[in-house]
Amino acid sequence: MMKNSHDFDYGALVTDDRVNAAVYTTPEIFATEMERIFHRGWVFIGHASEVPNPGDYRLKHLGRQPVIMVRDQAGQVRLLLNRCRHRGAGVCTEERGNLRSFRCAYHGWTYKLDGALAGVPYPEAYGEDFRREEYGLTKVPRVGDYRGFIFGSLSAAGVTLEEHLGRTREQIDLFVEMSPAGEIDLAPGAQKYRFTGNWKLQVENGMDGYHPPVTHESIVMAVERQRGRKFDTYTADSPAVTRDLGGGHAMLDFRKCPANRSLNRETYSKTPGDETFRETYADAMRRRYGEARAAEILQAGGTHMLIFPNLIILGVQLRVISPLAVDNTEVAVYPALLRGVPDEINEIRLRGHEAFFGSAAAGSPDDTEMFERMGAGFAATLEPWVYMGRNLSGEREDGDGSMVGHVMDEMTQRAIWRQWKKLMTGEAVTHKPVRSPARHVSTNPESIPAK
Ligand code: FES
Ligand SMILES: [Fe+2]
Repeated sequence: MMKNSHDFDYGALVTDDRVNAAVYTTPEIFATEMERIFHRGWVFIGHASEVPNPGDYRLKHLGRQPVIMVRDQAGQVRLLLNRCRHRGAGVCTEERGNLRSFRCAYHGWTYKLDGALAGVPYPEAYGEDFRREEYGLTKVPRVGDYRGFIFGSLSAAGVTLEEHLGRTREQIDLFVEMSPAGEIDLAPGAQKYRFTGNWKLQVENGMDGYHPPVTHESIVMAVERQRGRKFDTYTADSPAVTRDLGGGHAMLDFRKCPANRSLNRETYSKTPGDETFRETYADAMRRRYGEARAAEILQAGGTHMLIFPNLIILGVQLRVISPLAVDNTEVAVYPALLRGVPDEINEIRLRGHEAFFGSAAAGSPDDTEMFERMGAGFAATLEPWVYMGRNLSGEREDGDGSMVGHVMDEMTQRAIWRQWKKLMTGEAVTHKPVRSPARHVSTNPESIPAK
């Protein structure tokens, strides 16, 4: 097995208030990130609602590993590595669909939905020592499901998914419980785009409360004109906060902003005065959750949170970040529909998603443009540092163990980098050493180069 011989001093690349831009541009650092962050800890893969029926599958990534998320015949969601156990061809090439089995196009080895090898052509030439049960598609060693959010880990042992998710679970609950049925639906699919730049630029940007009034100035001004008043979110006395939830998880917390109420008239009414479906929805929520919890969900339900390292839950969508190379990133944005709500609610969610987040919408392309400008800027290496010290001294504890700052502080970026540094230096361990690692997985701690 190839040894990783890179021995960067990761601790020195990230300080309290700045990051050396080598972390965005160096292929060897990218390779080590894949190994230490994506191929060890828990990584978001997909949502159970994407594969509602047996045989439904989606092609996904776990770090750089190609993965099939499939619902098997017994109804269980499986994560299988998309690699034929014969000579290694991908067994599935269509991005989504429904199949009864996976048949490799090269020599025809065929696998059941749970990954078991069902049969091989011309089997008589294989001797008695060829045991079919040893040649099923390789399973992702650990699969976890929290409220339909499916995560995978290539490490056979380590912190539980619940431990990994920590404080983010409260926000996942609020997001899912926007549905009176307690279920979101990602079946409509995703818009995907790629940008030339490093994956962490999108991760940082998703939690960046400093940029919207500038990067997105044109759409902010247009909406303010339409509404006839200014946003109260990005102001010096904004009640919104940045929040470091620990473990690299972070959020922009708008719960105290009246204008961000999930159920406010502007967001969830088609026309002023048209309240019927809004009331139908609110009634269903009160019946399901009771008065107090329904009010809390309707105020706080559209969270804005990063689940480290690759999932952002953002208002009405899931945003999944897939690093492809040091300077090539795929982003998939999934509008999340709510089950058990009047159609108008989902229609408004979809239209809102398209208007700001689509690949040809008014918001996301602004951000992508900034990532590519940063890539151009990073070519100037005489001064390699990027500065993230905005109100470092203003970080404060919030009683529940999380840290908060003003919504336009760079605390969320620092939260991400603190975790990155811990994982890359080995200070934080998300996995446990495995004595006999599965053949395809590098979980052996001895493969980590000494610094
Ligand atoms: S590579 Fe898949 S059957 Fe030969
Ligand atoms: Fe943005």
